[in-house]
Amino acid sequence: MRQSIILISGVNGEIGHGLVSSLYNQGIRNLIGIDLSTPDDFVQERTLDCLIGNILDHNLLDRINAQYQIEAIYHMAALLSTRAEFSPVIAHEVNVDGTLNLLDLAMEQAQSHGQSVKFFFPSSIAVYGIPTLEEKSSVGAISEDDYRHPQTMYGCNKLYCESLGDYYSHYYKRLSTTDTAGLVDFRSIRFPGIISAHTLPAGGTSDYAPEMIHAAAKGEHYSCFVREDATIPFMTMSDAIVAIEMLMAAPKDALTKMVYNVKAFNPSAGEFLSKVKSYYPEANIDFIIHDNRQSIIDSWPEDINDDQARADWGWSANHDLDKAFSEYLMPVIRSRYEHN
Ligand code: SER
Repeated sequence: MRQSIILISGVNGEIGHGLVSSLYNQGIRNLIGIDLSTPDDFVQERTLDCLIGNILDHNLLDRINAQYQIEAIYHMAALLSTRAEFSPVIAHEVNVDGTLNLLDLAMEQAQSHGQSVKFFFPSSIAVYGIPTLEEKSSVGAISEDDYRHPQTMYGCNKLYCESLGDYYSHYYKRLSTTDTAGLVDFRSIRFPGIISAHTLPAGGTSDYAPEMIHAAAKGEHYSCFVREDATIPFMTMSDAIVAIEMLMAAPKDALTKMVYNVKAFNPSAGEFLSKVKSYYPEANIDFIIHDNRQSIIDSWPEDINDDQARADWGWSANHDLDKAFSEYLMPVIRSRYEHN
């Protein structure tokens, strides 16, 4: 009998860390990670094994397929939006071909062991593209089906992979006689910018918020690359993990969508800085605008509507902006940097 496992790609990344921590704390001991780089001790200590390799490597995926029985896949590996603009073809390969490979692995597994494989896919507000700033500020909270005209390679990749998930869940090889509907149980959340107290993001465009607070805590100078009035939704990593776990635990028949918006708070960069300064009055932060990164933020919504996540699986964020600082970010960040 093959060992039953939960597979996490991009395990050494930001959400990978948060997810491993939370699943381990719930007593889950059959996590297998994949990452390009050797995961740090925190991840290694909480996983059964970490495979160093690329989700584009078919030999690696074949080995996993042969060795394990996969219950669920959390596919976190991706090139984020800023990095993807520097290498769009590589981004497409990792973000799209990598997702296809893992969806295919999920399907092969489900067909071989006869049970559906849950597949979590982190999508993003980058799938939205709002044409003008005037429209962005007048349109209000946008719903899942609105404005799906991404302006970044990353947003295009995420939007297409949402469709791939739908295809693998409902329509896979519909001309063959084998019934595959439901074998892959694809579930996805369009995340806003995520702020972790423990780690810093790499290569995203919403990075200015987490970079601001970590720089202030370290006493370092930071130049924010978007205007003070730049506004997109954010949430804490702790709430992002709660959202993933709630969606993955929801009964399938309660889900009316495959892809859900979730939101928590949406300060402008200037409001975020004021909050940082209320804890670090000496914070040395200025604004030096990077026009092209700014234009990406301008195309993302100011606010999103998450009514469906609330209705279908009881979503509600634990942290608004005040609580994000007082209950989550500050306690961890203070002890982290004070001890270093
Ligand atoms: N936070 C991501 C980025 O900035 C968007 O999902 O790329």
